[in-house]
Amino acid sequence: MARPSGKKPTAAEKAQAREVSLRRIGSLFTTHRWSLGIVVLIIVLSSIIAMASPFLLRAVIDDALPHADVRLLVWLVIGMVAVAAVTAALGVVQTWISTAVGQKVMHRLRVDVFTHLQRQSIGFFTRTRTGEVQSRITNDIGGMESVVTSTATSIASNLTTAVATVVAMAALSWQLTLVSVVVLPPAILLSRRVAQMRREITAQRQRELADLNVTIEEGLSISGVQLAKTMGTAPALIERFTGSSTRLIDLELRSELAGRWRMASMSIVFAAIPAVIYLAAGLPFTRGTMSIGTLVAFTALQSGLFRPLMGLLNVGVQLTSSLALFARIFEYLDLTVDIQEPDQPVKIDAKGHLRFEDVTFAYPGSEAAAVAGVSLDVPAGTSLALVGETGSGKSTLAALIARLYDPTAGRITIDGVDLRDLSLADLTSIVGVVSQETYLLHTTVRENLRYARPDATDEQIEAAARAAQIHDRIAALPDGYDTQVGSRGHRFSGGEKQRIAIARTLLRDPRILVLDEATSALDNETERAVQRAFDELARGRTTVTIAHRLSTIRDADQIVVVDHGRVLEAGTHEALVGAGGRYAALAA
Ligand SMILES: Nc1ncnc2c1ncn2[C@@H]1O[C@H](COP(=O)(O)OP(=O)(O)O)[C@@H](O)[C@H]1O
Ligand SMILES: [Mg+2]
Repeated sequence: MARPSGKKPTAAEKAQAREVSLRRIGSLFTTHRWSLGIVVLIIVLSSIIAMASPFLLRAVIDDALPHADVRLLVWLVIGMVAVAAVTAALGVVQTWISTAVGQKVMHRLRVDVFTHLQRQSIGFFTRTRTGEVQSRITNDIGGMESVVTSTATSIASNLTTAVATVVAMAALSWQLTLVSVVVLPPAILLSRRVAQMRREITAQRQRELADLNVTIEEGLSISGVQLAKTMGTAPALIERFTGSSTRLIDLELRSELAGRWRMASMSIVFAAIPAVIYLAAGLPFTRGTMSIGTLVAFTALQSGLFRPLMGLLNVGVQLTSSLALFARIFEYLDLTVDIQEPDQPVKIDAKGHLRFEDVTFAYPGSEAAAVAGVSLDVPAGTSLALVGETGSGKSTLAALIARLYDPTAGRITIDGVDLRDLSLADLTSIVGVVSQETYLLHTTVRENLRYARPDATDEQIEAAARAAQIHDRIAALPDGYDTQVGSRGHRFSGGEKQRIAIARTLLRDPRILVLDEATSALDNETERAVQRAFDELARGRTTVTIAHRLSTIRDADQIVVVDHGRVLEAGTHEALVGAGGRYAALAA
């Protein structure tokens, strides 16, 4: 369940998120362990090579220069340059591998989230804001980039550099080494504090980013803009957007600055250490125990310790704050799939005999049943019409046939097989739905039609459009079937979109056809054209029609009046008129 945004997570929740996430984050990398192994190897190798530098330096100062040994000096200098060249080359290879690994991990997460959300039921999308999903897939996974690409290398390189440096330092003088590492414990404590701060800021920032995305989606999509323009809410939208954006400035600033003071204090301490070392070297009891070369080499090493140590501490900070990102992604990946694919799907050559057996259904989170104890029997090839007031449960019945939801009790069968025993792919090829809301993709008319059946030939597409009474209209467009439909098909009228949707369903050739108020938005003229298209579509199929105009359903084999989710009466037009009940009153 999504935590309501704004509420602060409790300490227990945080601890849990942390524990789960670290192991899971690690598991994302298991398939890349060989690549990561190579990266670590390269890093260790280049750190060891780099460690030669201070020893070369000491040789220059203590041997080559004082003895004017030009030969030795040249070799030492060549050695210094070679060390730099080799480590740089290794660095390139290592960046290449680790970036590839990081990108593959992000790719996997993006694809997994997309796939998993596709399998979510309509219920999920009813509760989730559109921009929220986008934001998690792009902003949250995008925000992981630095962590997934550089954490492993950062740990490996900084750790090996730090260890090698300390070893080299100890080889030069263990006493001075001790002086240098006393700063470690306070540095670690400071970093932990900063990491926690960053993590909270990151969680807030990602929520704010998602809000921003939702505002964009609601304010700048075609329907949103229409609403805003007609309702005059543009200023309010701008204000909301400005508010989100302003809060983001603050969060970004806090995120950047959290820990600047840590960096500042650490660098002061590190700068002070060489001074302390010179002091230590000059004190009476240590004086004369080390050469000037040793001292210079040691301070060179010691100043080189600052970067890897800070690097290591920063990895901790980054990793901790990225837990907020991973938690948001894992939350999506952990959503249960309500509409489950059966383990052993039953294969049928569907004739289209549809039955509702005492079906009850309540929407998730809703107490009242939208459909209660409904039994229907629609023999293959016959037609059923559902009538009833708005909110009586007709669309819910339609949604249940397409298995957008599963019944709370009872079952729905096709040719005697429970919908839950059919593979989802088979079910979608058996049941076709045309509803009042048609969704067209932003592409050509042809591609919109082919979406229903990717292997359809141009001839089949055209035949479907003809049957749906829309071919002439499409042919008259500037580019015919290759005309762009525009965002959500806004260049077409409701009736035209409707007929394109019918053509699309015709291409799928479903045995059972569900028409949910598909003509209610249309004027009489268009309705007649669409109705002809429907009649064409319905021929030889089992049809369930929900119509707001009774004239269109007179000829149905069965008419069922739905009231408060129950079947009130059922029969043919003549029988129901004769019975003088609700239908008779409606039809009068
Ligand atoms: N996604 C939903 N979540 C919760 N309740 C819903 C949802 N869709 C519809 N309902 C409720 O279920 C009842 C039946 O709705 P519906 O099947 O759409 O009626 P009809 O199509 O007959 O107008 C209504 O009370 C409606 O408010
Ligand atoms: Mg409805």
